[in-house]
Amino acid sequence: MSKASVVETQPLVDRASWKALQKHMETVRNVHLRTLFAEDPGRAERFSLEALGLYFDYSKNRITNETLRLLLAVAEESGVRERMEAMFSGEKINVTEDRAVLHVALRAPRNASILVDGKNVVPEVHEVLDRMAAFANQLRDAKWLGFTGKPIRNVVNIGIGGSDLGPVMAYEALRHYSKREMTFRFVSNVDATDFVESTHDLNPEETLFIISSKTFTTLETMTNAHTARKWILDKLRDEKAIARHFVAVSTNAEGVSKFGIDTANMFGFWDWVGGRYSMDSAIGLSTMIAIGPDQFHQMLAGFHAMDEHFRTAPFEKNLPVLMGLVTIWYNNFFGAQTVAVLPYDQYLKRFPAYLQQLTMESNGKHVTLRGDHVRYETGPIFWGEPGTNGQHSFYQMIHQGTKLIPCDLIGFCRSLNPLGEHQDLLIANVFAQAEALAFGKTPEQVKAEGTPDWLVPHRTFEGNRPTNTILAERLTPDILGKLVALYEHSVFTQGAIWSIDSFDQWGVELGKVLAKKIVPELQSAQEPKLEHDSSTNTLIRRYRKFKASS
Ligand code: F6P
Repeated sequence: MSKASVVETQPLVDRASWKALQKHMETVRNVHLRTLFAEDPGRAERFSLEALGLYFDYSKNRITNETLRLLLAVAEESGVRERMEAMFSGEKINVTEDRAVLHVALRAPRNASILVDGKNVVPEVHEVLDRMAAFANQLRDAKWLGFTGKPIRNVVNIGIGGSDLGPVMAYEALRHYSKREMTFRFVSNVDATDFVESTHDLNPEETLFIISSKTFTTLETMTNAHTARKWILDKLRDEKAIARHFVAVSTNAEGVSKFGIDTANMFGFWDWVGGRYSMDSAIGLSTMIAIGPDQFHQMLAGFHAMDEHFRTAPFEKNLPVLMGLVTIWYNNFFGAQTVAVLPYDQYLKRFPAYLQQLTMESNGKHVTLRGDHVRYETGPIFWGEPGTNGQHSFYQMIHQGTKLIPCDLIGFCRSLNPLGEHQDLLIANVFAQAEALAFGKTPEQVKAEGTPDWLVPHRTFEGNRPTNTILAERLTPDILGKLVALYEHSVFTQGAIWSIDSFDQWGVELGKVLAKKIVPELQSAQEPKLEHDSSTNTLIRRYRKFKASS
């Protein structure tokens, strides 16, 4: 029997390594990081790793050598390696959708070969990348003209979920490298405010819309796309203008052409690219226009380097595997409900939002690959804000609340905007937060400062709050690619251990279906016969009443 089938027949909680970890947990539960560091001067060195320009310090976690040994055994026994190989070799590991999972092919070098159903997909990937590059250069060189002959200066990406979050995150992250003469906007919400506010100061004659949708059926995107079409036509008054002001990124050529976009202006991708894993595909067109093809390729090279590291590094030196295992440790053994991602770089302000889809749409599942209800916790809630802002809002709870919140602190040694002492102050805060969270401040220390007895409990920091610190030299396209791929493969590692399908997203379906049913109930002239529960019926009636009175 292969390892993969052992995994499917043996539930996680029955695996020997998992049981050993549960037993081991009892010896670690109450150990303080103060003790672990005091007893072992080499701890920082032992529990840190440098690879691909990323320094990953995981020493401030509540782990010992034995914890790590057992976590690594869980990864082995759960078939992470076999599943990883299955992914890289194009097997249909997204079992509920019967699809291969090959975002790694999107960043494979031109000469690589990755087969899907016996066909090497890498040449097609590069064909699309080349077409994107030619188009991006035309725009960047002001050679792609709008319908009235003016160069395009504004690019608006319309998409949602993976067709929005990757592009907007990457644009914000790499803004420093972007073509400043051009304006980039991202419209996702079906709330008209998003479209109106994103376009209110743009001239239609100089604006290009990229309609990004894998399916080209998503309600929000199609609604915004039709609004954009009208916005262009209201000003330019000729259907022929569509060809100069709209391009599409999709797997659905028929849908694109029905919308009125010439498929010559369509950039394709494939069903083996999941929405939340698609920022390296044509979905990244806005990113490529912003930073140029060369820097886009540097980002892809960063992704690829992390793919190779994930695939080849032994698990004890494997960044995504270690990160995934640490997440599992708190999620499944300490009852931690969340992970805070705290980038100390303003350019990464949308990184937590991007990670929310990546992590939660991937691992927010309650059944195993076989369809059994899990008997353990799966994906934690990911959230966060850039530092230092969060320090003045929610960090209080991380330091002194009753919930254990493991944190990822991300920092860069060199600022892209060196200005006075800003960077030293920023990075001092990264190190200080990790130190304070781990070691806290004892009542004795607080008392020794002259604090009155009654105030001592309030000013005491228990510490023992875990963090990972990720440090790189500078935020570059290459490093961004590595960071994103690090989280992608960490998510993969977790999903493989939990035996869930990290690549489907059935949980978004029900709400979509119900919304479709409710729309006509809100719009009908006649009072509709409502057959929902009493709460939903009342809400619908209330909305109709206000709508009628306006
Ligand atoms: O929210 C569900 C989802 O299918 C995501 O996985 C996807 O990224 C998003 O909708 C957008 O889908 P599409 O690119 O097909 O418009």
